[in-house]
Amino acid sequence: MSAVAKIETLLEENRLFPPPEVFREGAVARDATLYEEAARDRLGFWTRMARELAWFKPWDRVLTWAPPDARWFEGGRLNVSFNCLDRHLAGPRRNKAALIWEGEPGDTRVYTYQQLAREVNRFANVLKGLGVEKGDRVTIYLPMIPELAVAMLACTRIGAPHSVVFGGFSAESLRDRINDSEARILITADGGFRRGGIVPLKANADAALEGCPTVEKVVVVKRVGDGSVAGPRKGAGSDAAAAFEADMRGGRDLWWHELMAKAPAACPAEPMEAEDILFILYTSGTTGKPKGIVHTTGGYLTGVYATTKYVFDLKEEDVYWCTADIGWVTGHSYIIYGPLANGATSLMFEGTPDYPHRGRFWEIVAKHGVNILYTAPTAIRTFMRWGPELPAGFDLSSLRLLGTVGEPINPEAWIWYRQHIGGGRCPVVDTWWQTETGSILITPLPGVIPTKPGSATRPFPGITAAVVDEQGREVPPGAGGYLILKEPWPAMLRTIYRDHDRFIQTYWNKFPGLYFTGDGARIDEDGYFWLLGRVDDVINVSGHRIGTMEIESSLVDHPSVAEAAVIGRSHEIKGQAVSAFVTLKEGVEGTAQLNEILKKHVAGKIGALARPEEIFFTAELPKTRSGKIMRRLLRDIAEGRALGDTTTLADPTVMQKLKTQYDEAG
Ligand code: PRX
Repeated sequence: MSAVAKIETLLEENRLFPPPEVFREGAVARDATLYEEAARDRLGFWTRMARELAWFKPWDRVLTWAPPDARWFEGGRLNVSFNCLDRHLAGPRRNKAALIWEGEPGDTRVYTYQQLAREVNRFANVLKGLGVEKGDRVTIYLPMIPELAVAMLACTRIGAPHSVVFGGFSAESLRDRINDSEARILITADGGFRRGGIVPLKANADAALEGCPTVEKVVVVKRVGDGSVAGPRKGAGSDAAAAFEADMRGGRDLWWHELMAKAPAACPAEPMEAEDILFILYTSGTTGKPKGIVHTTGGYLTGVYATTKYVFDLKEEDVYWCTADIGWVTGHSYIIYGPLANGATSLMFEGTPDYPHRGRFWEIVAKHGVNILYTAPTAIRTFMRWGPELPAGFDLSSLRLLGTVGEPINPEAWIWYRQHIGGGRCPVVDTWWQTETGSILITPLPGVIPTKPGSATRPFPGITAAVVDEQGREVPPGAGGYLILKEPWPAMLRTIYRDHDRFIQTYWNKFPGLYFTGDGARIDEDGYFWLLGRVDDVINVSGHRIGTMEIESSLVDHPSVAEAAVIGRSHEIKGQAVSAFVTLKEGVEGTAQLNEILKKHVAGKIGALARPEEIFFTAELPKTRSGKIMRRLLRDIAEGRALGDTTTLADPTVMQKLKTQYDEAG
């Protein structure tokens, strides 16, 4: 759907779904009290939220705000793993499932809070034994296996900031991230399962480490070679898995299970300052280099704790499932830290929705009795295409709340989700937030706010958001503009790792004193927020953020390419797809074979998620007289629209030629 058509459907969308009565009656928040409390006294509200966590020492000051620098709960001391584990061990949660894990081949593991705490204590001692000290960075490059949760929590236990790198990233992307954070330790696995095949994580890591002077030791989890593929669901790759062996380098590489067997059982939780770094997570920006988003301890935990509790209406007995990968912020905040800080049962799944069959998600919901499901619009649109008969074949009656995140959800997908997955009885929470915001910021509280399909509704209590014009003035209801945040919030990013200037430039310079989100939005007459997508050179492919400049740099890095312009064009399933316009060097022919080679080249340099959907060879790119590529016009072409204003082009005829050529290529 084109952007214009998208906005038109949004403008027409006015159906209202009040919270179902039975849901409201039993909800954690069932009236406007929280909103009123936070409106009266914002800092008082966050103070009350923070007090629900365990602190070794109370804070002296709730907030110090010297824009753009915020310090929350200064003087307070706490430990994240203590809050996620130890404090649940004293009461009835001790033997409650903390993690229910299902592997791609169908193997399962369940960790109670006590069992998980035991693993985390041991692994924290492993890290200490390898010389990791408070403040040292640890990079984690693992598949979605329980060891990933254990490794993260162990880092927080000893105060070593982790940097988790999504397992789908290439060796080169991993290397850049390791080097930017100067990590001393890398934790990886021999391999991971992906749709029956094997992802050679250790081999990727070895390639990355050729250029990583800071890494001293590599801890390797035996995932593929551990024989589990021979378990309940022998996959196509099982023979390969049985024979799979990682190449271990003496003196550097160590097996996880061997280290764990020797590690002492108890490791005290390090009291951390509220503003100590908890983790770094890299995300794409408008320039080629990914940004290391820095989150700190007390504010982050307060934000994810409170939002998980109220947005997902968590009850003691719930099975909660967020389908994201922990390599992204959604997995950090809403698989690990938010749910575990609440003492919830969090389900973690290693595989994909279509392997070994397209009903895999629904099979999991039925098998584990999932009550709360949090997934992405791109997944919902894929399920829509596969048809409602698939989920109808499974017992989904355990579900009582549905959530979505990652990109704007089109009203059709929202309605389909509510009807065919939620059986018409589950509220849908569309949650807007970012890697930078740490926690959900715009969302309904499901027992309080009537929802409108396609709208993330209202800011969470204690959050002040607005839509402004180019001058930073708030626009009237219905008018579009830039989404900004007016006041600091506890889980906000504090800086970009070792690049505070870029932090200021990116988020605080456009409108001084206001946080610039990079998203367009409008607020309707009822005060509901409608997110309209990115307004910068960042695109959102299947809910994954990727910078067009990153893809362009990887394309021009190929010897055949002279110039490249990358845009995101609307895509029915992915939300946006990567579309590249490429000019080749003199004498190079734009063959179909070269087209494939370039797609592979990008995937190899960045990761499969950045692979262009299409590459279009052209003799010239549309440029302004000052030489700036006009991506807006390329989007018009790729989305089949009439061409916008071309008067600023150095040579307006370029566009007509390009359009004719593009349309002919079909
Ligand atoms: O454009 C917005 C979109 O995803 C961006 C943030 O991406 P990332 O940092 O990777 O985090 C994704 C998961 C939190 C935002 O700037 N976005 C995220 N959620 C929504 C959304 N757009 C519309 N509606 C949402 N619910």
